[in-house]
This record gives sequence, C-alpha cells and structure tokens, in this order.
Amino acid sequence: MELINAPSLTNCSLLHMGEEIRQLVEGGADWFHVDIMDGHYVPNLCFPVPFIRELKCAYPEIPVDVHLMVTNPADYVESLAFSGADYISFHIDATSFSRRILTQIRKSGKKAGAVLNPSQPVAMLEPLVNFLDYAVLMTVEPGFAGQQFLPDSIERLRELIKLRDRRTGHFLISIDGGVDTPHAIECARLGAEIYITGNFTVFKQSVNLKEACVQFKKVLYSALKE
Ligand code: DX5
Ligand code: ZN
Repeated sequence: MELINAPSLTNCSLLHMGEEIRQLVEGGADWFHVDIMDGHYVPNLCFPVPFIRELKCAYPEIPVDVHLMVTNPADYVESLAFSGADYISFHIDATSFSRRILTQIRKSGKKAGAVLNPSQPVAMLEPLVNFLDYAVLMTVEPGFAGQQFLPDSIERLRELIKLRDRRTGHFLISIDGGVDTPHAIECARLGAEIYITGNFTVFKQSVNLKEACVQFKKVLYSALKE
C-alpha cells in the first residue's frame, strides 16, 4: 500500500514559506495540503486561491490537495481548478448538494473529496460512495492547527474502512488533524492512505522539515512490515 505524506502548509511560517516548502519537497513530501478558510465555516482565515497557482508553478509535479473550510464550496471549484488544484475536498455540512459538488469537481478534471467532522456519523458518507475519489476524516474539530488527535477517530476510521469494503468503494482515506506518529501507525495498519502532517510529525520537531518528512515515512513503512 502506498502511503501519502501531505504536509499541511498552514503550519509553515509565512515569513519563511518558500524555504520551508523547499525542505518539505527535499524530504519527499508527496502532496501539499492547502487549507482554505473563509472566516465563516470556521472562525479562522487561511490561504487565498492564487497561492495554488504559485505552488503549481514552482512544483508542477507535486499534487495540491485543497481542503475547503468555507460555507459555499461550489463557488470555489472553478477558480481552484483553473489555479491548478489536483484534489478538492469540502465539508458536507456546508451544502445540501454534496453529490452535485463532487460531480462538479470531477467534471473540472479534478479528484473529489468529502470531509467529515468528528461529530458527524461515518454513515453520512454512504450515499456519496460512488461520487468520491477520497474521504477526509477530520481527527480534530476543523479550523486550527496544533490540536490533539481525538482518540475515538480510530474507531471511526474502522467504521469507514468497513463501509468502503462493504460498498466496494474505491476512494482513498485521508486523516487530517493532530496526526502524531503513534496514531498514524494505527491508521496505516487499518488501511488509511493519506496523512495530513502538521505539528506533531513534520513541523515543530527537533530535526528540520526535510529530515522529519523522511523519518515519518520511514517509521510508517517499517511499522507496516512488523
Ligand atoms: C485543521 C486543518 C489541518 C491542520 C493540520 O483544520 O485542516 O490541516 O493544519 O495540522 P495539525 O496536525 O498540526 O493540527
Ligand atoms: Zn486540512
């Protein structure tokens, strides 16, 4: 199974963004995770859409995974697709028309993802299975980096994997929020593919960003072999 390390660029220093992103790339970061927050869906603000274009110009080979934390996700799909986003996910409680938006994303040639908050039952994804390229399980309440991984997320992931197996869904599973190494190992053993890495694995470590990325993947793959 291929595991994807997608560092959340929310955790970069705005003053040193370019240099930090370069280190993440040197450390083998597989995707960039870009949080877009509008100050309404979550009480915080983060990254403007044109940032995606800059990223793609600098690193065209690295997929950009956009996590929309906005009240009107449909309004952003066209400009995100135009800017070069590769994966676009939105919170399903931000719309009454999740299937329509997932289809809109796919029609724009991008991979479509639905995000589930910790308080939403996993079964809410059931009607979306055939419309999804990936499902994002929030493992903290959305809106802020640096929160602790919610331990019941492991049970929720188990349920999601069961749902995927039962419905023979082909979507990938992404884990976002407070991901630390012990929980990432548990998630990898259960079968999650995408790891949004932040404060507890890649950023704010005793080693630099490059080395932290290298170590994270090494530890996960060696745990899977045990
Ligand atoms: C939280 C964001 C996450 C966050 C991850 O709303 O969606 O992507 O930046 O960073 P950590 O793991 O440090 O919380
Ligand atoms: Zn995120």
